[in-house]
Amino acid sequence: VRTAAVIPAAGRGVRLGPGAPKALRALGGTPMLVHAVRAMADSRAVSLVVVVAPPDGAAEVTSLLDAHALPERTDVLVVPGGESRQESVKLGLDALPEGYDIVLVHDAARPLVPVDTVDAVVEAVRDGAPAVVPALPLADTVKQVEPAAAPGDPEPVVATPDRSLLRAVQTPQGFDRATLVRAHETVKHDVTDDAGMVEQLGLTVVAVPGHEEAFKVTRPLDLVLAEAVLARRRL
Ligand code: CTP
Ligand code: MG
Repeated sequence: VRTAAVIPAAGRGVRLGPGAPKALRALGGTPMLVHAVRAMADSRAVSLVVVVAPPDGAAEVTSLLDAHALPERTDVLVVPGGESRQESVKLGLDALPEGYDIVLVHDAARPLVPVDTVDAVVEAVRDGAPAVVPALPLADTVKQVEPAAAPGDPEPVVATPDRSLLRAVQTPQGFDRATLVRAHETVKHDVTDDAGMVEQLGLTVVAVPGHEEAFKVTRPLDLVLAEAVLARRRL
């Protein structure tokens, strides 16, 4: 069974602050997107990577990827993305050729995911799970609150869910292709991850162990951490 990875990379990166679109920002001198593509291509299971570029940046992304070496077994396709992550993933799925029955969806903003995590997700899909997420236990206690009337106002806490049952979910998330396509055709309201759409079809999503280095680069401090992880790897 052939496996493809769709990499949504079309976001602006508002929380990271002013600058180039987040996926094109440098990490160790190389654009974050290139790290993310390599992280997928490093898995022997992945033979196609579909990069979903910023809407007006497909040509720039294509030449960027041409300039960086990838394993020869990996094909790359670049398509323009949309207004939301969900729309961008859908556009990537629409561009997927026949013959790939397992699909990974991986955030360009998680450039440092180790190949063992990618392989573990693929393996769980091969073993028959329609949807697989890499997940980690939480370090912080989580509170559910009543939204504040105005930003910055105190928020009443209404519940403390049992932390031992909670997981922070990462990418790549892995899917049986037909299931993911059906999820994107069926669920039209906003979601923050693809597996959540599969849950809404009534199917079971399973979690496998994630990895600390699969963290998402979201805020400036995450860039500091990512640079440090990369520097340690290069020792
Ligand atoms: N993404 C996308 N298309 C969008 C929005 C997001 O492909 N319209 C991608 C991002 O490029 C990123 C992934 O979805 O790789 C996860 O999203 P997030 O971390 O939220 O990135 P941004 O949306 O770019 O960041 P922000 O929300 O801070 O603007
Ligand atoms: Mg976003």
